[in-house]
Amino acid sequence: MAIRNVTMIGEAVLRKKSKPVKDFDEDLWQLLDDMKETMYQNDGMGLAAPQVGVLRRAVVIDVNNAFIELINPVIIKTKGEDIEDEGCLSVGKFRGRVSRPMEVTVRAQDRYGFEFTLTGEKWLARCICHELDHLDGILFVDKSLDKDKYLKNGGRI
Ligand code: NI
Repeated sequence: MAIRNVTMIGEAVLRKKSKPVKDFDEDLWQLLDDMKETMYQNDGMGLAAPQVGVLRRAVVIDVNNAFIELINPVIIKTKGEDIEDEGCLSVGKFRGRVSRPMEVTVRAQDRYGFEFTLTGEKWLARCICHELDHLDGILFVDKSLDKDKYLKNGGRI
């Protein structure tokens, strides 16, 4: 495993749409292992492949000490609403409120290509939404209720 550099807001790669993972091979496993190590090194709750400069639909998440890998994830159901402060390793120290579903069901593949579904509540639901947004080039500051404050303080988009 190796720690990779985390891409920062302003870098073009964070604004691009990631491509589906097709090969469930050693390159993918290396990427996932590196993403896991990079996330823990930076005390993150989640990390998406574009944050290490790779435009593939893969994310790692650790909420409540439960490590999860989601490959080619798709949200298939949401319920309710929850507003909390959010942050992102690619944005820096700014944290701002974002409205997310209270509950999310996601369908994804594991690192071997096997499909599964997972339902998460509250912070897990939030983290799933946040990381999946990265795969479409969306950052939490785009949808933050505190976006004006962020921009006024010189935050970049
Ligand atoms: Ni993020």
